[in-house]
Amino acid sequence: MTLGRPIMRLAEADSTNQVAAELADQGAPEGSTVLAEVQTAGSGRLGRRWASPRGGLWLTVILRPPAERLDAWPTLTMVGGVAVAETVADLLAGEVGEGLEGSLDVRIKWPNDVLLNRRKVAGLLGQARLGGPGVEPAVLLGVGLNLNVDRASLPPEIRDTATSLSAATGHRFDADAALESLTERLDRWYGTWLREGFGPARGRCLALSATVGRSVQAIGPKTAITGEALDILGDGALLIRSADGRETTVRAADVSLRSG
Ligand code: ATP
Ligand code: BTN
Repeated sequence: MTLGRPIMRLAEADSTNQVAAELADQGAPEGSTVLAEVQTAGSGRLGRRWASPRGGLWLTVILRPPAERLDAWPTLTMVGGVAVAETVADLLAGEVGEGLEGSLDVRIKWPNDVLLNRRKVAGLLGQARLGGPGVEPAVLLGVGLNLNVDRASLPPEIRDTATSLSAATGHRFDADAALESLTERLDRWYGTWLREGFGPARGRCLALSATVGRSVQAIGPKTAITGEALDILGDGALLIRSADGRETTVRAADVSLRSG
């Protein structure tokens, strides 16, 4: 396994993506990982805040995809989403066992959320670094997984939409085992992406999707579309068919799931 090593463990960071960006720009090798117990300025897409109290798994892995695959880097966030969703399902199965497992539903909400029983349990933040003289480009894959995060330690405004493995089950989860399982899955899915492209992970995304087949509203930088989410395309975009039959692909949007 190459991802997850070497690992920099920090008691506190502003954002592990920020620390990883500095390491990547200094030439840190692929697989280098930054893990923080607490983040003081954890971030999501579009500069939104990511609450990162103690108990979560907050980490960033540095990837260095070959130059000819760089255009496809946005799909790496989804590759990461598959790895995280599978890790969550594994941890739940291992800790809670068969009995409860059936009542714990793990899904991927396009593009970068992992849901547990419809609440957000993890998010991914992919960022590209261009590189420079003597430094290859890099992709920073940030993962925020609410492992043993108490609901009370999350900001009140997200307590109803967020959950953690511990909050959903009443069990505590071993952080090192979770890290091991996550980096192993990431390593495998990244290897598949390098060899075969996005296709296999796309298939898993579709199978685990909370979005495809649902009625959604997508609010993008320029437009808002309401319709049925039909597919995730080969470049990671979401295909939506609106009521008038028009099909639109969205790449950067906030998607909310509508009932019905
Ligand atoms: P959403 O669809 O949930 O709005 P998104 O994938 O579009 O999320 P971002 O745009 O990256 O997410 O923004 C992060 C959002 O995640 C924040 O606006 C907040 O609602 C939510 N959030 C922040 N911290 C946590 C956390 N620890 N667990 C779950 N959700 C969180
Ligand atoms: C999302 O909003 O869904 C993405 C959240 C990504 C959070 C992780 S936590 C580790 C890494 N460092 C950050 O500042 N963000 C990512």
